[in-house]
Order: sequence, then structure tokens, then C-alpha cells
Amino acid sequence: METGTASSETRASANRESIRPAVPSDVPSVISLDQTITGLAKPDYWNDMFERYGGRNGRFFLIAERDQKFIGFIIGEVRAWEFGSPPCGWIFALGVDPDVRLGGVASRLFESICGKFSEIGVDMVRTMLPVDDHLNMSFFRSQGMKGGPFIQLEKHLTDG
Ligand SMILES: CC(C)(COP(=O)(O)OP(=O)(O)OC[C@H]1O[C@@H](n2cnc3c(N)ncnc32)[C@H](O)[C@@H]1OP(=O)(O)O)[C@@H](O)C(=O)NCCC(=O)NCCS
Repeated sequence: METGTASSETRASANRESIRPAVPSDVPSVISLDQTITGLAKPDYWNDMFERYGGRNGRFFLIAERDQKFIGFIIGEVRAWEFGSPPCGWIFALGVDPDVRLGGVASRLFESICGKFSEIGVDMVRTMLPVDDHLNMSFFRSQGMKGGPFIQLEKHLTDG
């Protein structure tokens, strides 16, 4: 079954924002918001993300809009069995327009994607972020997330 269709649209009446699956015309808005947040324009990356996550089973690229204006996005997917991990939802990317922050938009995006993960039958959501990224850490902690049982390891490939 195809998931992430327009029929799954939800509306938060109090704030008049809707959350819906991304369409190709949203990608420039995502590129622009990411550039605002990170200072880097990555059009190839975001076009590829849309190809990989837009309208795919178990993958979600959701847009928040208010009065038909783009105000945020979230991307995630259900992954399974890497190093023994049972299926769980992963959130890879999240961003909200600075003009509408602290109004609950990211919380509703998070709630929406978690709802989609639950519909698939998983009962765990994970993400990964730098330990000194206090803003995103505060947000995810506010959603009830906390440190899990996995640890990230890395190595420079130029090391001996
Ligand atoms: C993190 C982010 C998504 C939060 O969006 P938002 O819509 O403002 O979040 P919400 O209004 O739903 O906030 C929910 C909770 O998160 C926490 N939070 C959000 N912003 C915070 C801030 N600036 N300082 C401290 N805590 C914060 C609070 O606990 C808040 O609850 P409260 O308002 O009751 O205190 C937004 O700030 C953002 O887009 N940051 C940049 C994300 C990024 O780095 N993306 C990389 C490109 S993919």
C-alpha cells in the first residue's frame, strides 16, 4: 500500500497549519529554508532526498504550511535490523521557518510523522544529532526522546 498520500492530511485548526506529503514544487522552499538554517545551498541533496523519500512506502517527507505558505518540513523512514535493531522510525531532517518558531509547528510535524510510523506498526522513533546542537537537542528532548542504547563510532579514512 502506498503511504503518505494526500488523504492523510491533518489540520491543526487553532493554528491553521496543515501537514501533508511533499510534492516536487515544495523542494525549492526546503532548499531555501535549509540554506537559511545552515548557510549552505544544497539543491542536489534536497532533490535527491525528494526522489528517495517523497511518496515512498515507509518513507515520509512531510510539509507544514499555513495559509498555503510553506513553514516547515520533516523527513524520516522506517528502518530495520541494522545491527539487530528491530524496525523503528528514524527522523533525518527537520526545519521550521524562523518566523513561526516556538509556535508548536515542529511538535506537530513530529507528532504527524510518529503517527505514520505507528500506523506501520513500529513503536520506537530515533534520530541522531551532534551533542552540542542544543536547539535540536532541546526540541527532541521536549518530545520525550532521550539517549538510547546505540553509540555512533567513526574513523577518518585517511588514518593509518
Ligand atoms: C528545532 C526546531 C525544528 C523547533 O521548531 P519549533 O516549531 O520552534 O518547535 P516547537 O514550537 O514545536 O517547540 C517545541 C519545544 O521544543 C523546545 N524548543 C524549541 N525551540 C527552542 C529554543 N529555541 N530553545 C529552547 N527550547 C526550544 C521547547 O521545549 C519547545 O516547547 P515550549 O515552546 O513549550 O517551550 C526549529 O528551531 C528549527 O528549525 N531549528 C533548526 C533545525 C535544523 O537545524 N535543521 C537542519 C536542517 S535539516
